Amino acid sequence: MDRKMKSVFLPRENRGKILHAHGGQILREGETYYWIGEDRTERNKVSCYKSKDFLNWEFCNHILTLDSQTEKRFPDRDLRLDIPEQKAAIGIGCNIERPKVVYNEKSQQYVMWMHWEMPGDYKLARCAVAVCDTIDGDYTYLGSFNPLGYMSRDCTLFVDDDKCAYFISAARDNQDLHIYRLTEDYLSIESKVCTLWPGELREAPVMFKRNGYYYLLTSGCTGWQANQSSYAYSRYIDHGWSRRFELGNETTYQSQPTGIIKTDNSLSGEAEYWYLGDRWGGSGEAYFQSEYVILPLLFLSDTSLSLEWKAEIEYEHFIYHGR
Ligand code: DGJ
Repeated sequence: MDRKMKSVFLPRENRGKILHAHGGQILREGETYYWIGEDRTERNKVSCYKSKDFLNWEFCNHILTLDSQTEKRFPDRDLRLDIPEQKAAIGIGCNIERPKVVYNEKSQQYVMWMHWEMPGDYKLARCAVAVCDTIDGDYTYLGSFNPLGYMSRDCTLFVDDDKCAYFISAARDNQDLHIYRLTEDYLSIESKVCTLWPGELREAPVMFKRNGYYYLLTSGCTGWQANQSSYAYSRYIDHGWSRRFELGNETTYQSQPTGIIKTDNSLSGEAEYWYLGDRWGGSGEAYFQSEYVILPLLFLSDTSLSLEWKAEIEYEHFIYHGR
């Protein structure tokens, strides 16, 4: 049996349609992986798929669409998803990018944060939040806003061991990268805890923690073109960040970071960390041919990591063996 899969791929799901979960993340719950990301087909915005082996993906739901239920829980947030006055000119509804979902143990709800824009440009630079009782259900949209008044474009979420959650996003026209601590319910910003690399134009943030070190992967800022990504590490989330080190080659193997997939090696029982990236097709119709890139992250020490090119990876790594 051939246990290998291509490291660059664009799968079809169980209905025979292309799997659209761009700028997304892959989460494991028990034995099941959920893949959540951007879906720009029809009136869809964010979709969810599931798999137990990474080869066969089943469509779960369009979890956020232009027709999602909205709720005015926060008076200062804008609840617009559909933007009818702009529809004829520039496509359908608002633009949602890089949606990320985390589970809040206290509220027992899944919370989604994302990048929100009016169709056609990236000028308003807002984040937005949605919630749901199940990972793949119909999310209720709670609106878009500028966190603490700042611009907010490429973004991600991170939940620490103490269950504090953080929202990381590009501010000041992408010049700076902000780390914000979220409130206990993960629905609002509590405070800004760190500004990283002022003026260095970082995008596509991805954060994870390993052996007591926080890691932050980011790309440069070149639109849909791939560029050299980097990583930095710190013992503390709000200070002490290292300088940035290069990750992968000068185009990050033609990809831009979007997530980390944590798996368990069935033989060693050790956690493995896989890089998930987007190989963007570009804007317009080309966007829909954007592929996904999965490559292993290798740790040379607790503070040194490398992303090596492999044309094929063994999908056995992703199958959960009950640890
Ligand atoms: C790079 C970002 O990382 C993507 O999410 C998207 O916003 C493109 N730029 C648009 O050019």
